[in-house]
Amino acid sequence: MSHTLAIDGGQPLRSTPYPTWPQWGAEEERAVLDVLHSGRWWAPEGTQVTGLESEFAAYHDARHGVAVTNGSAALEVCLMAAGLGWGDEVITTPYTFIATASAVLRVGATPVFVDVDDNWCMDHRRIRAAITPRTKAIMPVHLFGQCADMDAIMSIAKKHNLKVIEDNAQGVGSTWGGKMSCSFGDIGTLSFFPSKNLGAFGDGGLIATDDDAVADLARMLRAHGSKKKYHNEVLGYNSRLDAMQAAFLRVKLPHIDLWNARRRGAAERYGRLFEAVDGVKAPEVMDGHVFHQYTIRLEGVARDAVQQALTQAGISTMVYYPVPQHRLPGGSSMPRPCASGCSRHSARCICTMSSQRSNLKPTAS
Ligand SMILES: Cc1ncc(COP(=O)(O)O)c(C=O)c1O
Repeated sequence: MSHTLAIDGGQPLRSTPYPTWPQWGAEEERAVLDVLHSGRWWAPEGTQVTGLESEFAAYHDARHGVAVTNGSAALEVCLMAAGLGWGDEVITTPYTFIATASAVLRVGATPVFVDVDDNWCMDHRRIRAAITPRTKAIMPVHLFGQCADMDAIMSIAKKHNLKVIEDNAQGVGSTWGGKMSCSFGDIGTLSFFPSKNLGAFGDGGLIATDDDAVADLARMLRAHGSKKKYHNEVLGYNSRLDAMQAAFLRVKLPHIDLWNARRRGAAERYGRLFEAVDGVKAPEVMDGHVFHQYTIRLEGVARDAVQQALTQAGISTMVYYPVPQHRLPGGSSMPRPCASGCSRHSARCICTMSSQRSNLKPTAS
């Protein structure tokens, strides 16, 4: 059936507004009100926060969970807790949110970028060439909900005695080879920013690790470097998660596998629909992908023109991330730029397709 595009004067494909996001229900409301009525909203060591930590650690197959204020703090605190600092180099990806590289810079270390593969994650084939005597860690990002190739990365890390820190801000519940993200490396971090597959009532983050020393130090660092109030032993931060966020997240955690499965189901349907569209390379629906974002690659067609046509058609999209990290103004302190061409070619459809509480159908037509 031929259809005149909205940009050429036809009818928009979608005229109803997208469902609102974030979504919540009676369970979340009750959890927040219970904390409110308890009067113990801060209680960093209270049962809500410790409950969240152990439930999340168990979910991501880690021995410890350390809850912090957000995913950026999780990265910074865990890098410090792992002993990374001045003079150290951390191999990571330029195609990510700014928080990944800025955490490295904030602890005084240097991000060294390697380009991404077809799945938008760090290309493990390029890691070896980036290793120097100063390299201390590899920090892959499980971008858009797709795990980086953790078998390859772990084998390189083992050979070169490097730590691995998984930036899993976008990949809660994702797996690689059937194994949970955050359970491969020495440390994994999560973000609970409300746009994420599992979003808090505000900001939130978590460090997952099997390493007792890292967990202990991270707990101190998030509380101004103290185990005991006013006995500050090391220079730390104020990065404690509050009880309200923890309670909110605890009622959501048992649902995350179902919500992720819905995202995957919608991604499969998009993929089938895109098969008939020239110039669009749909993402591979790999095992364990949790589709935080559904990202298409355009080949031989101008990204901005496609985006404009989609906007006219009522389909919301965004370009993630238009500027790679080493080209950002704040990235002038980030050496060793790599030839990251991917962001020039990416356009991304927002995932309204897998709304959590209703059975919404994908919006692509
Ligand atoms: C890959 C990545 N790392 C880190 C972060 C930082 O998380 P937060 O926004 O919770 O600080 C984000 C946030 O979007 C992210 O996408």
